[in-house]
Amino acid sequence: KRLILIGPPGSGKGTQSPIIKDEYCLCHLATGDMLRAAVAAKTPLGIKAKEAMDKGELVSDDLVVGIIDEAMKKPSCKKGFILDGFPRTVGQAQKLDDMLEKQGVKIDKVLDFAIDDAVLEERITGRWIHPASGRTYHTKFAPPKVPGLDDVTGEPLVQRKDDTAAVLKSRLDAFHKQTQPVIDYYSEKGIVAKLHAEKPQKEVTDEVKKVLS
Ligand code: AP5
Ligand code: ZN
Repeated sequence: KRLILIGPPGSGKGTQSPIIKDEYCLCHLATGDMLRAAVAAKTPLGIKAKEAMDKGELVSDDLVVGIIDEAMKKPSCKKGFILDGFPRTVGQAQKLDDMLEKQGVKIDKVLDFAIDDAVLEERITGRWIHPASGRTYHTKFAPPKVPGLDDVTGEPLVQRKDDTAAVLKSRLDAFHKQTQPVIDYYSEKGIVAKLHAEKPQKEVTDEVKKVLS
């Protein structure tokens, strides 16, 4: 399966991805995770991306299209993939279409994590992540067994630099202006499935499985 996950910050894309990935043996390509790794490693890409990310703005189409093009060449992505956080502009969606056409494949489904803006601040400001695995926790909705530590490895959890109420505002703004049109782009192709992303995690997982079965 070849899937795209679209939704505003905190809608649950990164939380559902590992579950879908394991269920269908897909590779998980999250541009946000890849960019944060590049920023941490201070690679040329990371240096270029950092300023926009800190402000909650999108980095340029060319940079993200480049990383996706590279990442999709991994053998583990041949059977199928989950794109989490990409494409986020209509320009990126068109470039993705070109890439897939060259490989002779198509997107099967776009999962639209529809949710009201009002609930996102609590989700974002309570989030803790385990950077090495991408596992996501929440102080209220999904607390770790030991506060501040990853359930599996016992390693420390961290908060994202852009997970503040102020930066969330610009991330939401970017979502409505630049990413909402991407949902319309795929709706015209008839492959969008709308989820009730405000429901509890397990119920969203059930909806996802239903859509994909
Ligand atoms: P990115 O990393 O993609 O961030 P984002 O889109 O803002 O999305 P989030 O990761 O915040 O949300 P999520 O839906 O994954 O939420 P999660 O599942 O963790 O991008 C970061 C930046 O990189 C961008 O601002 C941009 O600068 C740049 N960038 C990335 N891709 C780009 C692109 N293609 N083009 C240009 N620039 C790009 O859940 C959040 C919290 O809620 C967690 O604590 C979780 O435990 C909890 N939770 C999840 N589901 C539920 C539920 N159902 N009920 C209750 N709590 C829940
Ligand atoms: Zn995410």
